[in-house]
Amino acid sequence: MKEMIEELSKPSDPSLAPGEARSPGRSVEELLSTEDSANEPGLMANSYQFLGDQDLPFSRYTSPEFYDLEMKHLWPKVWQWACREEHIPKPGDFQVYDVGPYSAIVVRGMDNEIRAFVNSCPHRGMQFADAGSSGSGKQFLRCPFHGMSWNLDGSLKEIPCRWDFPHVKDDEFGLTEIPSGVWGGFVFINFDEDCEPLTDFLEVLPEHFKDWGLEDRYVAIHTYKELPGNWKMCMEGFLEAFHVLATHPEGLRTSSWANTQYDVFGKNVSRFLQNLSTGNPHMDQSEAEIYGELGNNPDDLPEGKSAREQHADNLRSAMGQALDVDLSEVSTSIMLDSIEYHLFPNACFFPGIQIPLIYRFRPTSVGTCVHEIMILQPVPKSGERPAPAEVSKLSIEDSYKKVEGFALAHVLDQDTENFHRQWRGMNASFKQGQTLGNYQEVRIRNLHNTLDEYLNT
Ligand SMILES: [Fe+2]
Repeated sequence: MKEMIEELSKPSDPSLAPGEARSPGRSVEELLSTEDSANEPGLMANSYQFLGDQDLPFSRYTSPEFYDLEMKHLWPKVWQWACREEHIPKPGDFQVYDVGPYSAIVVRGMDNEIRAFVNSCPHRGMQFADAGSSGSGKQFLRCPFHGMSWNLDGSLKEIPCRWDFPHVKDDEFGLTEIPSGVWGGFVFINFDEDCEPLTDFLEVLPEHFKDWGLEDRYVAIHTYKELPGNWKMCMEGFLEAFHVLATHPEGLRTSSWANTQYDVFGKNVSRFLQNLSTGNPHMDQSEAEIYGELGNNPDDLPEGKSAREQHADNLRSAMGQALDVDLSEVSTSIMLDSIEYHLFPNACFFPGIQIPLIYRFRPTSVGTCVHEIMILQPVPKSGERPAPAEVSKLSIEDSYKKVEGFALAHVLDQDTENFHRQWRGMNASFKQGQTLGNYQEVRIRNLHNTLDEYLNT
């Protein structure tokens, strides 16, 4: 441990340009190029750019005025994932998605098409259903206030006491439809009818994920937890692996945390790729020791095989059996690594099998947000998709350990326990802003640059 700290505490070569310095030791690219992972063009992509090193003002998180700007210029203008397709599998199923004052009702029509409408009755503004609620099998949407109803394609179906509305023309009294689209089994909506196409917004995601099949996975766990802090502050706690050192020290002996690769693929998509099950390249460990650290018997490591390779094989077989799926063709990196794609503004997608996380953050006030996590598992060989998990609601104080079968609960508790203090510290600071690492924290800067593009328009 001491050697690692010493090695990583040395200053960078002063001849390097800002952003060029990297952790000593093997890079992600070097490791993946020796494995079956090298056959995955998405994994081998490498796209860092230096985005500046000025402090990022704390007021971007703490100021109610800044929060109001986001509510006015970001949330009603940007693509955001509303639900999974599997949440509305049959005609007549609906799911409500809310952010701030904005509310959409996502509906599967009788023609099986998914459409999204503003969740507000054209009559007196009543919402068809509550925030976060869902329902199924309805032939039409009926306002619970006066019973006016609309077909699932948004056209008017019926106005009770029609005689009192001679001034209403049926074809002008439909529900307000907003743009929607599907990628990877996620239904996206945008409250802005003039928005860019979803496929443009997603940048490299469809290309990189084309063999990773998020659409062929089901929601095995779904949590909904309040967090104490601005939505960006909380989300940014998940955009780098730098914090593994102090926040998740039990991961230090088995992961290449300081050698994590950070990519900015465009204004909307960034990634980290952290090699797990490698041992720590800054510690002196034999392959047998690493194999032991991964929970195996060190003596069982076959001659000539690395701990990582053998551990991946073990998981292919054990997880394949437990999940009833064939993982024999899954590359070592997808099998083991912590690979996180961030999609602006608020969602993260992990294609991995060992770390199959999906999450999103939504503001509930300037200093609180909701963090939803889904564990997406591959659909079993039978092709029968298990019903999506019910949402487990957790309060600010609740531990993720309350969620049955949530293997990553301990790690997420460590992450979220930081937020009380960070939020108080951001508000208490006499310094203008936070000082970011040029490489490891570049995704945070990218997020703020893109946010500015929305707020300045
Ligand atoms: Fe973490």
